[in-house]
Amino acid sequence: MQSLLHTAIIMDGNGRWAEARGWPRARGHAAGAEALRTIVEAAPGLGIGTLTVYAFSSDNWQRPPGEVQALMELFAAYLESEREPLRRAGVRCTAIGRRDRLPQSLVTALERMEVVTRACTKLWLRLAIDYSARGEIARASAAAATRWTAGLPPSVELMQRLTASALEREAGPVDLLIRTGGERRLSDFVLWEAAYAELLFLRVAWPDFRPAHLRRALRVFARRQRRFGALLPAAAGASA
Ligand code: FPP
Repeated sequence: MQSLLHTAIIMDGNGRWAEARGWPRARGHAAGAEALRTIVEAAPGLGIGTLTVYAFSSDNWQRPPGEVQALMELFAAYLESEREPLRRAGVRCTAIGRRDRLPQSLVTALERMEVVTRACTKLWLRLAIDYSARGEIARASAAAATRWTAGLPPSVELMQRLTASALEREAGPVDLLIRTGGERRLSDFVLWEAAYAELLFLRVAWPDFRPAHLRRALRVFARRQRRFGALLPAAAGASA
């Protein structure tokens, strides 16, 4: 049986989607939340076991205060309204990123969501909020340095264990990373976990992203040859 995929998504293009319609950017984010709802619903049926989505990067604090506030309120509203539906659907929902700069109401909503859905196993939805991959790697390096002074030298395996909190450890590497909205960059998202991820950059803006787009992306992914730096078995046999 094929193992379940870890898919990561940079949900980009909300602001431009709204601006193109003469609407405030916050309306694009609200439409983006709706798109996320439909994708979370479809994901388990498409062979996805873990879905990590980029909701707010640590660099997004530089946006105008009104937009930041609208996003924080949207996240809290999503967490409140989706708690029961996600639990019923068997979706475990957790967050990665810093919590010490988030509004207390959002932290409380996150904690409630994590408690209520912790036993769910159909899909693991990870929301990256106030997240910076470089920040994560820096924190992991500091932890590795402490262990080094105790005699345990740094290694890829050790860093692997340290780049996420204990709870998040089992999420493992990203198989497929999708970015919507037409840009082709990683913007400080899951840099460690995506070391061997297949990358897919799509023009569609996130609010227009539907399960059909995800299905198509997964078909493209299935055609990619993943060698992880080695050779395919046939080629390895021929050159032996
Ligand atoms: C990037 O688009 C998107 C964000 C900074 C916010 C992502 C948030 C959502 C999709 C809302 C739903 C999420 C949850 C967890 C409820 P952008 O604003 O940079 O778009 P632009 O590049 O067109 O300006």
